[in-house]
Amino acid sequence: MKKQKRILSGMRPTGKLHLGHYVGVLKNWIDLQETREEFLFIPDWHALSTSYEDKLNIRKLSIELVKDWLSAGIDPEKVTIFIQSSVKEHAELFTILNMITPLGWLERNPTYKDQITQLAGKDINTSGFLTYPVLQTADIILYDADEVPIGEDQKPHLEIAREIVRRFHFLYETEVFIEPKEILSETPKILGTDGRKMSKSYNNAIFLTDSKDEIWNKLRVAKTDTNRVRKTDKGNPDVCLVFDYHKIFSSDEVQKEFREGCENGTVGCVQCKKRCLNSINNILEPMRERRAKLDNQTVQDIIQTGNLKAQKVAKEKMETVNKIVFGDI
Ligand code: TRP
Ligand code: SF4
Repeated sequence: MKKQKRILSGMRPTGKLHLGHYVGVLKNWIDLQETREEFLFIPDWHALSTSYEDKLNIRKLSIELVKDWLSAGIDPEKVTIFIQSSVKEHAELFTILNMITPLGWLERNPTYKDQITQLAGKDINTSGFLTYPVLQTADIILYDADEVPIGEDQKPHLEIAREIVRRFHFLYETEVFIEPKEILSETPKILGTDGRKMSKSYNNAIFLTDSKDEIWNKLRVAKTDTNRVRKTDKGNPDVCLVFDYHKIFSSDEVQKEFREGCENGTVGCVQCKKRCLNSINNILEPMRERRAKLDNQTVQDIIQTGNLKAQKVAKEKMETVNKIVFGDI
């Protein structure tokens, strides 16, 4: 029997992480590892759903991603880290759940409809893309996860997961799964240095691996309160992107100091940006230090240990599920 609440979450291997990932998801994961039993995995089958044509090296991207997690402060002593496709039971449970999931639930999924429009350049009119939330449901309920830290866009998937669980329980008249709850990040969304959503493809992201100089080059040109031309102009920090970063990364004292300086026209934007650089760098510096100590073999060993632990949990669960579905002779 598990004592602590169990958390499970995953992140698709699409390239190096930036501050948006950190404040949106990763920081949550790092905080939760102290109080919960945590399983974190790379949904590499999910990655194929939108990238099956891209010839990405998903294995390599997966290892890089785990390296990002570990550098950021995920502790492999506390967290089970594994790869989805190394635990075949995900595919097994996915198959069973597909049999009982009404198509309408998937077709109505708002995230699905969004993505079909957003990824218009890609051919994602596939069965795999439509049934994506069923696989995600399998990922979660296979481990009896109580809670799932996710971004806002994933809420509909959690809703579908709960519906599938209820339908399974209704059809088989046995309560074997847990209806998972979502945990949303409390940190406000962080914008990119041009004021749009932070994203690698917009070239406006501050990466966890950026050096202090690289961060400065991005902050230097970041938008401020556009009504403020001279230092003596009174500014409004609440319409300034740089101050948004202060709100997330700087202490209350620093925020107070620069808010007053900006509002009274006594502090210059360059000075304010330099302080912001320091606050961001204070978060990234320990990450750089941890990363420097991590070689690929260490990361692979951590994944291998996690795979074995996950396989054990998944295998046991599928024994129970298979008895319910196919009967017990
Ligand atoms: N769909 C998630 C995303 O795109 C990734 C994911 C797959 C996931 N399976 C999961 C997240 C299970 C949490 C739990 O971000
Ligand atoms: Fe933004 Fe700081 Fe300049 Fe004010 S002083 S406009 S908060 S960068």
